[in-house]
Amino acid sequence: MRQIICGLLVLFLTIGFSACVPKQEKVVNSGSERIYRITISDRFGRISSEFWTVSKLEKLGVKKISSSYFDRAMKYDDAELKVVSLLKIISQFELKSGEDAILLNCFDDYQGILPISDILKYDLQLATKIELGSSKPGWLNPLLVVVPDGKEPPFEERFLTANIRELKFVRLSDYYGPLRKIAKVSKKAEQGFKVYKNNCLFCHSLKGRGGNKGTRLLQVYELAKEIGQKKFLNDFKSFHHKDNADKQDVEQFVTRDQLQRIIDFLLALKRSEEKKRKVETS
Ligand code: HEC
Repeated sequence: MRQIICGLLVLFLTIGFSACVPKQEKVVNSGSERIYRITISDRFGRISSEFWTVSKLEKLGVKKISSSYFDRAMKYDDAELKVVSLLKIISQFELKSGEDAILLNCFDDYQGILPISDILKYDLQLATKIELGSSKPGWLNPLLVVVPDGKEPPFEERFLTANIRELKFVRLSDYYGPLRKIAKVSKKAEQGFKVYKNNCLFCHSLKGRGGNKGTRLLQVYELAKEIGQKKFLNDFKSFHHKDNADKQDVEQFVTRDQLQRIIDFLLALKRSEEKKRKVETS
């Protein structure tokens, strides 16, 4: 009996305590409490991290801007963003191993990546504070990649990474290498790979690249069959449409043809995996 009472007491304490812990969401919009990691390797490939607070980032210089690119994609008309230049951040580091991109690991298992050449070309910014007139989805927190007005990169998911916890300098060839190699089997698969890496990989990982917010697409769909392809397209449309409650309107970035190319790419990947398995078991 005593044990039961003790057990109940512990249970009550746990529930009571967790109810008192403030929801993280309210704090993070100010972005001031968090510590961000910036990871880099030396010329021997040894990896190390620095820890940056918002105030350390903001010491590099802040601006308040709006972004019609962000507003268009997220369907706001009045977002105000406090930003630091990504180039300024990069210039604080000496890149010694041929790094040409920044991997963006996020709190919500989203993984973005930006080539440094795009950061230069479009003068990409990093928001430390997001001010919106209306409500926001849970994942829309700093740090956030922002396209400043006056720059016009292609309209793609990849310029909208939010909720970033770590910036990691990497080489594009290492990151995409295994996927790119498989996509080489056909022109169509190659086109599909390009669309997929710019719009989907961030949430639907493949071969250990990308995030895991979304479903494991290769496991779920039998893309070799027409019925599997139909289901893939239908499920995509019924989740990633413009009224998605969590503002995950990915449909706005891709055409029907591009979705078909994505299927070609995923099929190529599936076939290469099957071939590999056959070789291993024979
Ligand atoms: C911001 C993250 C994100 C991006 C980017 C994204 N997805 Fe998704 N996707 C999700 C989530 C989350 C779900 C819902 C998973 C669930 O139902 O549990 C989903 C569902 C789907 C589904 C339906 C599967 C199911 O289990 O319901 C398909 C198909 C799909 N996505 C394909 C794509 C394709 C193709 C792209 C790129 C053009 C893409 N997604 C981009 C997060 C993402």
